[in-house]
Amino acid sequence: MRHLLSTADLPRQAATALLDTAEALKKSLLGREVHKLPTLRGRTVVTLFYEQSTRTRASFEIAGKWMSADVVNISAGESSVTKGESLRDTAFTLAAMGADCVVIRHPASGAAHRLADWVPTHVINAGDGSHQHPTQALLDAATLRDRLGTLNGRTVTIVGDVLHSRVARSNIDLLITLGAHVHLVAPPTLLPWGVENWGIRQAHGWPVTVGHDLDAALPGTDAVMLLRVQAERMRGQFFPSAREYSINYGLTEARLALLPEHAVVLHPGPMLRGMEIAHSVADSPRAAITEQVRNGVHVRMAVLYHLLAAQEDQP
Ligand code: NCD
Repeated sequence: MRHLLSTADLPRQAATALLDTAEALKKSLLGREVHKLPTLRGRTVVTLFYEQSTRTRASFEIAGKWMSADVVNISAGESSVTKGESLRDTAFTLAAMGADCVVIRHPASGAAHRLADWVPTHVINAGDGSHQHPTQALLDAATLRDRLGTLNGRTVTIVGDVLHSRVARSNIDLLITLGAHVHLVAPPTLLPWGVENWGIRQAHGWPVTVGHDLDAALPGTDAVMLLRVQAERMRGQFFPSAREYSINYGLTEARLALLPEHAVVLHPGPMLRGMEIAHSVADSPRAAITEQVRNGVHVRMAVLYHLLAAQEDQP
């Protein structure tokens, strides 16, 4: 594997290998006081973020450091980007300094793919516009495997702002590749046109189903994945008010009770508590939100390992 740009072209075998490596790394670090493996010693990983981030950026940095890579963080707002430097020139600058891998987050869909065409380094897409966020989908899949055993034949209901969500796109692709059925629940204004057919873009895929009634969907669901309402990507009013959104699509305690006993609640974060998810639901043992964050480090270690070390040093 040279780059990780999207889950749409990630074959089932490659996705499963990444998840298995993440699980093995998690087990090997369990109970250790010192979280440090020598695997990426001498390698340089640069995180290049043109958008804000807490989880994704910190966990890539931790993942790199736990594998002994040298990690350099660049925020566009504090770099020569503010002086007018192009993405291409910035990328060549980093490659010239010896970066082995660039982890990029950018507001433009397709930015990570462009970077991968230009520079000789490995590229990981940490979120490009509303397009893809592959490591988020992988950490969600890792969390669902932990909680549900397998994704094969499971039903995952994705709720909310599908239109602007790279998390939804990456998850739909990966969940279908891993054998799950995906049901989308959202206001009609926050569903992209033709979304029903997204699932059939996958090799051996099948269509997603779409509805607007969350209460009706919950009893048949193995996992609910809530999406943040992405106000920063909205031009105009997509629903009347936060209160109305919450009434129709918020995961309240009453709605939690409609889920089967084994069902799990996910949110990629940052959460809008009280709107997308009730405080008590976010903090309940049914929610795996902290586990998602924890798995994020191991999944990103696995991705760095497969990109930078796997050929020379098989596990
Ligand atoms: C997501 C993102 O940035 O796409 N957050 C994340 O990576 N954990 C989701 C979001 O911002 O809503």
